[in-house]
Amino acid sequence: MKKILVTGALGQIGSELTEKLRSTYGEENIIASDIRRPESPTGIFEEIDVTKEKDIYEIAKKYNVDTIIHLAALLSAKAEAFPKVAWEINMGGLVNALEAAKELKLKFFTPSSIGAFGPSTPKDNTPQDTLQRPTTMYGVNKVAGELLCDYYYSRFGVDTRGVRFPGLISYVTAPGGGTTDYAVEVYYEAIRKGRYTSYIAQGTHMDMMYMPDALNAIIQLMEADPDRLKHRNAFNITAMSAAPEHFAEAIGRQIPDFEMNYQVDPVRQGIAESWPDSINADAAKEEWGFEAAHDIDSMTIDMLEKIREKIKRDSA
Ligand code: SER
Repeated sequence: MKKILVTGALGQIGSELTEKLRSTYGEENIIASDIRRPESPTGIFEEIDVTKEKDIYEIAKKYNVDTIIHLAALLSAKAEAFPKVAWEINMGGLVNALEAAKELKLKFFTPSSIGAFGPSTPKDNTPQDTLQRPTTMYGVNKVAGELLCDYYYSRFGVDTRGVRFPGLISYVTAPGGGTTDYAVEVYYEAIRKGRYTSYIAQGTHMDMMYMPDALNAIIQLMEADPDRLKHRNAFNITAMSAAPEHFAEAIGRQIPDFEMNYQVDPVRQGIAESWPDSINADAAKEEWGFEAAHDIDSMTIDMLEKIREKIKRDSA
């Protein structure tokens, strides 16, 4: 990767990935884009509506990029609330981005998710290659997206690569509209109020990962030797399998009087229950050396410290 266009650059992953790519590949080589302009843009920024057929193509061509990192999408709970809009953005955007990559001969990354699995998928140690019959619109989009990316690779030779992200946890940009958002909210509430009411029930395990590991995974996969890749779209990756009480325990080790309560949201609980409890990331480890550096305790220490600094800065 030398010159990279990022769509959805103001989103949960995009806001941090763009900064990391700028520091790794040079500020002049990263073109950030989103549907809206940020209040104070830093670096090169373009407005792109991914659902418009030619927006991505035109900006990719204008800057002569060699890679598209396509992140613009709705998360699971939002997609469940607005399924038709999710189809248009998640699928329409993806096909427009893939077409641009095909026409301009670009490398291509887009994330899939643990949401690409469904109730009939083996729940524990979920294999890389297994049954995928998701029951959410988000999941339908993700499976179709994985297949579409494989298709553009085998049919047109587009160098498509992707991972199935678990719930991503970060202190920079709030996720918004995901099922795993509780694992971010809990840290803010722990600092602000010393307690958190979880909308996901105790005992509900999902895979999770700290954002720095997710960003490293994207870059590592995109820089991996293609001859080693037996899979492309999309690799299972995970750093931990955790339920709400594990976050409560990890936070409790730092804030001893922290309390977790439960008021379950049936929609998001239903989505969570349709996903695996823990996925197997062996293919990613073998084919491109994936490894996560953070576990729940090191992530918790860092999250609490960074959020405290952020709250202090914002109130200064
Ligand atoms: N974090 C995402 C969500 O909850 C899963 O990909 O929607």
